[in-house]
Amino acid sequence: MDIVLSGIRPTGHLHLGNYFGALRNFVKIQETHKCYFFIADLHSLTTHPHPADFHNSVRVILSEYLAAGLDPEKCALYVQSDVPEVSELYVLLNMLAYKGEMERTASFKDKVRLQPDNVNTGLLTYPVLMASDILIHRSKYVPVGKDQEQHLEIARLLARRFNHMYGVDVFPEPQAFNFGNDLVKVPGLDGSGKMGKSEGNGVYLYEDDKSITKKVMRAVTDSGPTEPNSPKPEVIENLFTLMRLVSAPDTVAFFEEKWNDCSIRYGDMKKQLAADICATVAPIRERIDAIYNDTDYLHRVTALGCEKARASASATLKLAREAVGFKPF
Ligand code: ADP
Ligand code: TRP
Repeated sequence: MDIVLSGIRPTGHLHLGNYFGALRNFVKIQETHKCYFFIADLHSLTTHPHPADFHNSVRVILSEYLAAGLDPEKCALYVQSDVPEVSELYVLLNMLAYKGEMERTASFKDKVRLQPDNVNTGLLTYPVLMASDILIHRSKYVPVGKDQEQHLEIARLLARRFNHMYGVDVFPEPQAFNFGNDLVKVPGLDGSGKMGKSEGNGVYLYEDDKSITKKVMRAVTDSGPTEPNSPKPEVIENLFTLMRLVSAPDTVAFFEEKWNDCSIRYGDMKKQLAADICATVAPIRERIDAIYNDTDYLHRVTALGCEKARASASATLKLAREAVGFKPF
């Protein structure tokens, strides 16, 4: 069975972009593929999180992943730092990654610009750690957004280089995975393109109805259509895109018609959109609360995930160690 792998850094809560763009698809493919989903806590260390907050950030994402429908029995759901094999493979792969290549990575150049006071070498070798995450399970597919494509290319490069240098076939080259028609770009409510953490325009899975409604009612709109059947400007198309994700098809059709005959009232549309987002999010939010507070359950989930991930990781690492020439006396 094909192996699919994805990691997420534990920084803050998941927004609707994460949910509709990634998580909802993960919930589907865990039924048909061998999936590894993990929380990339080692990657987070590049930003020096405070130790007192760090563990809680992992708990938050873990609870939100579970509440959204990831099933720890069906997939391997684990915390990266629970799998030491990843770090050992990172050491081996670091010897094959060249300084110049890492310095040319777009994400590294961004960090140098954005945080000049903390250009640690963990940032420089971030793509090597990510390659280790992927290659440790000999993964075939990695669902990634545009911003991660270059990192995936480096994972392929290191897989090829390792196999070639040691004359083995240990690592398959991982490919980007997209969910076909299900691939959506979830827009923000500020008319500025994509919903994102750093964009500050997120509607979160763990957000109460009042706060969601307030954000939706404040969404940017225009002065309304003047010609029947005119094309929609981006800010309006964004509202429709969100509505297609959360509302019933006949609700969307109703507002499409109102747009087309120029009788649309944005206030009504936003009220409906807010209600439908709340109806989508509320049951997930309730599950997040229950799971977040159930330490025994979280302990069982991470222990099971760790066991599954280490079984696969140790088998790969054994091959890699043999390839480089480690031998017991
Ligand atoms: P952010 O952009 O908020 O930092 P991340 O980069 O942590 O989000 O997102 C993790 C994954 O969630 C991405 O690889 C992508 O698949 C998905 N994702 C995030 N934002 C969106 C969005 N607005 N539309 C679609 N998918 C998204
Ligand atoms: N770098 C990814 C991000 O910032 C997170 C990540 C770490 C990851 N390791 C991974 C994603 C392996 C996919 C596969 O979003």
